[in-house]
Amino acid sequence: MRPVQIAPSVLPVDFSKLGEAITALDAAGVDLIQWDVMDGQFVPNLTFGPDVIASTRHLTKKPFEAHLMVLTPDVMAKRYVEAGCQRLIVHAEACDHLHRTLGNIRELGATAAVALNPSTAPDEIANVLDLVDLVLVMTVNPGFGGQSYIKTMEPKIRIVRDMINRAGRSDTVDLEVDGGISPTTIEGAASAGANVLIAGSALFRDKEGLGHAVGELRGLATSAFRG
Ligand code: DX5
Repeated sequence: MRPVQIAPSVLPVDFSKLGEAITALDAAGVDLIQWDVMDGQFVPNLTFGPDVIASTRHLTKKPFEAHLMVLTPDVMAKRYVEAGCQRLIVHAEACDHLHRTLGNIRELGATAAVALNPSTAPDEIANVLDLVDLVLVMTVNPGFGGQSYIKTMEPKIRIVRDMINRAGRSDTVDLEVDGGISPTTIEGAASAGANVLIAGSALFRDKEGLGHAVGELRGLATSAFRG
């Protein structure tokens, strides 16, 4: 079974101090850093181009993953890998040929991952589990930070966890959740089977600092996790 990992979304940071934020997140002990890439088409928001990510790559050795909330992931995948992202997460809903898109990402030398929006059924990924090292179950509708956790996603998280286990891939495939993760919601997601937990607002609003927030979330998730 894969370890519990805590990762930040870069979305809530003060973009005028982006480099300092990456350095602070590294020091806070996160396991990897997630960049919420939005194209203003797939979601009603616009965020990080590859050059922005590349400008911070030298600041940390932690893995970068690009959560591509974009309509045409094939068009930009190579640029995000060249920017220093080790993993690319594409949305099943944005890919006419998901199997091919995931294969293309692997050919670029990155690891491939697939995300499911709240209304998308787990069956959408049943035939690509052999191509991914992570499945992301969204616990908010994508596009913005600071939204409320959708608790009704927990049965879906368990279904995806069971799919990963039944496929014999529990040692190689992570189950990630993203959206509304906080000390009051993380145990539900972890007990449903999520082992990688993305937090944005909850990390940055912790009055005791990023290190405290990461440690608290890691402790809660580790004790609650059920593979
Ligand atoms: C939604 C974004 C957010 C972000 C996390 O598209 O992906 O889920 O990463 O934001 P919080 O933790 O504030 O919900």
